[in-house]
Amino acid sequence: MKNFVSIADVADVQLLIEMGLNYKNNPLADHTLGNGKRLGLVFLNPSMRTRISTQLAAQNLGMEVIVFNVGQDGWSLEFGDGVMDGTSVEHVKDAAPVLGQYFDVLGLRTFPSLKNRDEDYSELVIQQFVNYAGIPVVSLESATLHPLQSLADLITITETFNEKRKPKVVLTWAPHIKPLPQCVANSFAQWMTVWGRAEFVVTHPEGYTLDEKFTNGAAITTNQDEALAGADFVYVKNWSSYTEYGKILNTDRSWMLTAEKLKLTNKARVMHCLPVRRNLELSAEVLDSPASIVTQQAANRVWAAQAVLAKILQCKFNPVRGARGVYE
Ligand code: CP
Repeated sequence: MKNFVSIADVADVQLLIEMGLNYKNNPLADHTLGNGKRLGLVFLNPSMRTRISTQLAAQNLGMEVIVFNVGQDGWSLEFGDGVMDGTSVEHVKDAAPVLGQYFDVLGLRTFPSLKNRDEDYSELVIQQFVNYAGIPVVSLESATLHPLQSLADLITITETFNEKRKPKVVLTWAPHIKPLPQCVANSFAQWMTVWGRAEFVVTHPEGYTLDEKFTNGAAITTNQDEALAGADFVYVKNWSSYTEYGKILNTDRSWMLTAEKLKLTNKARVMHCLPVRRNLELSAEVLDSPASIVTQQAANRVWAAQAVLAKILQCKFNPVRGARGVYE
């Protein structure tokens, strides 16, 4: 694996899930694989789970990790063309190659602007790191996708569901007071549809249709009760409108998943990527009940990251290009 910025970088999704589950059983199975290799984790935006789980994963593989909070500690970066006469100090075309000399693998977190859909959906920021760093880039969440989260979600569904049939998995929109990215929903939909080992339904109010390139193959309905009927897993997540980009079009609190609504399901397990707003997105009653597997999901972030880093480290290393070489 050269980069991990979307599921398109993954040759075999099931294999990656199984690698994650193997690492969960034996975290130090490959504890020397990353010896002498350095991982840089670059954060343009905040994080708790991704930051810590990826560090733990790298340490399990014997890698050295350095975390760099650009938003807080670094020079503000420019990504556009033209005269740099604004507030940005350094262009990504100059910064990324330097990071490529310091590290063997680079993780990057960046959020969308939610103002310019074309720019966000072109993945301008992470693509420039891919283009100019010269080393493998791992998405720690980008403008439109969160693949490490999705891999952890599939690991969680796989280890939780023990029946021979396909589980019914429902992604439901939830209310929120702030406009949030579509990343987690896009990414989960994309991984679920490509994986193909579940009956997958997306439900949301009018105006919240996701980009169909991510939901192609999913059943989509604006009737939440209908979607929840017989569900084995309910993934709760807010996202702002894709069609009226970045806007909040619906504030109907009846979309919050409650214990009453869970009665429609097949004793569904409830998922959320976290952080979650209690009693807004998801009722505290559900979150504090045995139905919730949100902590298990977050714990599985370590094994997802470890599988991805291991796949990258297993690539052929070319020590010729650049001071520290590149993986090919
Ligand atoms: N789910 C997730 O990515 O959490 P953090 O934003 O805390 O990393």
